[in-house]
Amino acid sequence: MADCCATIDVPLSAQKHEGEKRMAREMSSHESNSTGGVTQGCPGRAADKFVLAVAPMAGITHSAFRRLLTELGGCDQIYTEMLAGTALLGERPDSPYLKRHPGDGKVIYQLLLRDANRIEPIVDRLRSCLPDGLDLNCACPAARVRRVGGGSDLFDDAPRLEAVLRELRRVWTGPLSVKVRLGRDSSDGWREAFLDRLRLIRDCGVNSLSINLRFAADRLTRPARHELLPWVCAEAGVPVTANGDITGPETVAAHPERFAACAGLMLGRMAVVRPWVFAAWRGGGADYAAPDLAGVWRRLVTLVREDFEPEKAFRPIRLFTCWYSRNFAFGNTLFGRVCYAPDLETLLARTEAFLAKNPAVADNPSMRDF
Ligand SMILES: Cc1cc2nc3c(=O)[nH]c(=O)nc-3n(C[C@H](O)[C@H](O)[C@H](O)COP(=O)(O)O)c2cc1C
Repeated sequence: MADCCATIDVPLSAQKHEGEKRMAREMSSHESNSTGGVTQGCPGRAADKFVLAVAPMAGITHSAFRRLLTELGGCDQIYTEMLAGTALLGERPDSPYLKRHPGDGKVIYQLLLRDANRIEPIVDRLRSCLPDGLDLNCACPAARVRRVGGGSDLFDDAPRLEAVLRELRRVWTGPLSVKVRLGRDSSDGWREAFLDRLRLIRDCGVNSLSINLRFAADRLTRPARHELLPWVCAEAGVPVTANGDITGPETVAAHPERFAACAGLMLGRMAVVRPWVFAAWRGGGADYAAPDLAGVWRRLVTLVREDFEPEKAFRPIRLFTCWYSRNFAFGNTLFGRVCYAPDLETLLARTEAFLAKNPAVADNPSMRDF
């Protein structure tokens, strides 16, 4: 199977920097045109005019899943999972976390950085993947990420964040975005701190922002605060992509005024549970005929086995199947069986046995933990 990283060697030339700059300009103008002026208060937009993005998800948005999404269609950009800066330097270019396939849509590579050290070689490492953009993770609330100073911990520390963004902007002239939350928690003064970070992000020349409308302390348990979106969009000064608890066009239809000023919508868990959600969104809503559930699962298994070494395929297939089990009315049965499967062959056999019984499909799959 062809893969871009193995075959394309891009010299680090001034010409390439020009290409990156052009991409950044095109992205900004596309997004501000299509919003009708994001920062000037957009009166509203048709649901099909949002840029639809797949959120970065560790263990999920690898090259095989990205291919599945591209085959199903409808999404405009896909984020890689967070790529730890220094670990990236030792990563093989044909690894499923980095590589691209011909025909892949737009792929944004997300970086997990803690300081401004070695950003130039890290970015140079990614150039051979021809990223459509780089994103800085300032959102992850996981303790293991915060402990090393990444994710939402970097967002909390303005001087360190500024150093990272200025260095990133210096070495990468293409589209640059950051993914944030609202802050650490909702204690007094959070709005001022948040506005301060927005200013910093803008001043450092970042092109766009995606926001999971929660505090770090909320993790994924509290509902996303979509009601804050008009304020965030008005203050951001760059195009904003909304994230958190968006499950399809019905989320926007329930409160169109909340989303009116957003340039894009980013889906995480629903994109894993129903990877065809974007095709349905673009392809006629209720009239869209959902693909065969077993067929989509089997296709993912095939793609993972093509992209991962045999001994590495088990974990991504298990993680995907755990999320995918939410499609079924009694998906907790499948979840329990695959979660504790000792190896890939057992997992595949158990899932096939479950699917063979033609299980009832859940109308509204739950995003909460089983
Ligand atoms: C399994 C999983 C892995 C995730 N990994 C990342 C990650 O690597 N980087 C990141 O910024 N967010 C990560 N997130 C958070 C998502 O990008 C997204 O912000 C969150 O799931 C909320 O969106 P949703 O309600 O549409 O799922 C992850 C979420 C899940 C469920």
